[in-house]
Amino acid sequence: MSPRTTYEELDTMHTAYRSPAITLTSQPSQDLHADLLIIPVFSDDDFADLASLDAASGGEVLRARARGHLTGKLFDVFATATASANWKTPRVVLVGAGGRKDFTSDSLRRVAIVGGLAARQRRLTRIAIVHRAGTPVASEQAAQVIAEGVCLANFDGGSYRTGPAPSWIDAAEVSVSDDGAGVREALERGHILGDASNHARTLANAPGNELTPRVFAERAQALATEAGLASDVLDEPRMAALKMGMVLGVARGSQEPPRLVVLRHDPPNAVPGVVLGLVGKGITFDTGGISIKPADNMDKMKDDMSGGAAVICAMSAIARLKAPVRVVGIVPMTENMPGGKAVKPGDILTSAAGKTVEIINTDAEGRLVLGDGLWYARELGATHLVDVATLTGACVVALGKTTTGLFGAPDRWVDAVRRASVRAGDRSWPMPVFDDYKDQLKSEIADFTNTGGRPGGAITAALFLKEFTGDLPWVHMDIAGTAWAEEAKPYQPKGATGVGVRTLVELALDAATWSAQNLKD
Ligand code: BES
Ligand code: MN
Ligand code: ZN
Repeated sequence: MSPRTTYEELDTMHTAYRSPAITLTSQPSQDLHADLLIIPVFSDDDFADLASLDAASGGEVLRARARGHLTGKLFDVFATATASANWKTPRVVLVGAGGRKDFTSDSLRRVAIVGGLAARQRRLTRIAIVHRAGTPVASEQAAQVIAEGVCLANFDGGSYRTGPAPSWIDAAEVSVSDDGAGVREALERGHILGDASNHARTLANAPGNELTPRVFAERAQALATEAGLASDVLDEPRMAALKMGMVLGVARGSQEPPRLVVLRHDPPNAVPGVVLGLVGKGITFDTGGISIKPADNMDKMKDDMSGGAAVICAMSAIARLKAPVRVVGIVPMTENMPGGKAVKPGDILTSAAGKTVEIINTDAEGRLVLGDGLWYARELGATHLVDVATLTGACVVALGKTTTGLFGAPDRWVDAVRRASVRAGDRSWPMPVFDDYKDQLKSEIADFTNTGGRPGGAITAALFLKEFTGDLPWVHMDIAGTAWAEEAKPYQPKGATGVGVRTLVELALDAATWSAQNLKD
């Protein structure tokens, strides 16, 4: 993910995102040189530090405030010109930031996205964003999330359209009162996290005819090499040698051969004794197989590799940030198609772990490929597991489109992932995985079935995965609802969200904390 990653092969279409130049400054707002200045405004703002802005706007700012056009309500946008001689930036966008005391790094990230999108709508390419003093958000956090937000705003979901290219942010100056080394590092961290999220969005956006398992594996390997990760791509014979009957079973229905990508981050300064194992679902298109899905919305199933994209792009960022922990990333990649050789309901597959599975519904394919993936992560020495998958419609029913479901054990490991997701700005919430639900996976003929019926469908899916985790600490993130935005929000255009990338990276960066904890009591 070098700055300005492009897909050269798509020369008639545009790139899906740009990595802007991002710099830190502690100069006062009026001295910033840009096309557009972006400033958060609070609902309870006293405007004390914005007097010169008001003057530069010819009193427009305070007039608008008095007339109720500038409320400070979260994500409201108010634009005005600044024509004063001692003010260097000609336009300002004031973005509502809510109550000052309630201001969080999460709202600042979104305010930066809203500001960045406003710049692009106006075709303004050089922006400056101000972190206001006197909020609960410290300078380091602010620098990180503003950089993330600027990058996230620089993504174009319509990259397969021909015609005029969209406007991009080329350069962003981030104004924070403190510009010490820690703040600089945080800015760079945010830049890398934002780019990695956009890269995952680009992959999730890619249609199934472009991003086949082989192409997905090639792109993963290219990204890994660029980031300095070791990589290995398993083809069918190698998966067969490892007896990965579940991945190979799902792949049987397709003309496209499957792949399994392994990425490794092995830094010299790693905390001793732990290996984080990240496993992502890489179904490049899910038709449902023989238990075929209805036509309505089937097109969305091109994003069934979003978990895999999250793992690959998180690994790349983990390497670039030199996270002090060993990490292995595993992504089984295949289509789920109803070909003549496809796995059928009633078939029995033998997993790499040796357990047998009676296939009830071929549309429950994600848990099959993840089961072999989790087993392989353990084989490769993982001590702590996290998997990310667009796994169940049931999770969308339970938590909706904004919140990722967290499943796993022990509770402290689930909580470590949950806290990472808070830092990342990825909403998530824990769900139960009580053994009581296990009866629903009983098979008359094999060790268990691959579906547990409608009740608690997201939970029985998680219990299926648990069979392949040994006794290792494990968290399953069900991103079926959160990987793709159906409705646009001011801070989130429709389409791929890149959910999970930043959570996984924040978790890896926090390894010193969780590796020292006794997770079990
Ligand atoms: N990829 C789907 C899950 C999904 C559904 C993701 C909707 C995003 C939006 C998964 O492979 C699937 O088909 N799950 C089935 C499981 C069922 C057959 C037990 C489901 O949720 O219906
Ligand atoms: Mn499916
Ligand atoms: Zn699926």
